[in-house]
Amino acid sequence: MLVRLLYVSQSVGPITTTVTTSILEKSSANNKKQNITGVLCQGSGLWLQVLEGERAQVNALYSRIIADRHHHNIELLSMEEIASRRFGQWSMALVYLSKDDPMVQMAHPEFDPYSATAKNAMSLLEELIETSTPIASTVSA
Ligand SMILES: Cc1cc2nc3c(=O)[nH]c(=O)nc-3n(C[C@H](O)[C@H](O)[C@H](O)COP(=O)(O)O)c2cc1C
Repeated sequence: MLVRLLYVSQSVGPITTTVTTSILEKSSANNKKQNITGVLCQGSGLWLQVLEGERAQVNALYSRIIADRHHHNIELLSMEEIASRRFGQWSMALVYLSKDDPMVQMAHPEFDPYSATAKNAMSLLEELIETSTPIASTVSA
């Protein structure tokens, strides 16, 4: 049974390239093994992440992620059963919410995932994937 999980969290300390690189390296190695795919969005001190895969694997990964001290105030936005993956080509793709990408900031100056509906947060992720160049760790690589 496939599921898609979406959460938001706040970074503890600045989101440096070192932190992001380390997360992407871990995701690349672990997610491939667990057949998990998804997107990680960073910006304005926030993380917004979607994870797709078998329910047991997604739950196990989510438990590990919420124990990670790099972030806090983790809020589950949605967890749904799905027929097929939407981000199946990436073991984890990274996109930027704001600041680093002025166009995105202009398009979404006051986006707050904590008060957004899961549907809107998911739409934003899809839009970011389509309109920016994701830093991607691909499934097949
Ligand atoms: C915002 C955020 C997203 C993360 N996403 C993933 C992920 O998709 N896959 C993963 O394996 N670890 C992810 N991590 C790292 C995990 O919390 C954890 O450190 C890692 O899975 C441990 O891997 P290891 O046992 O191989 O060291 C994420 C961490 C943060 C802070």
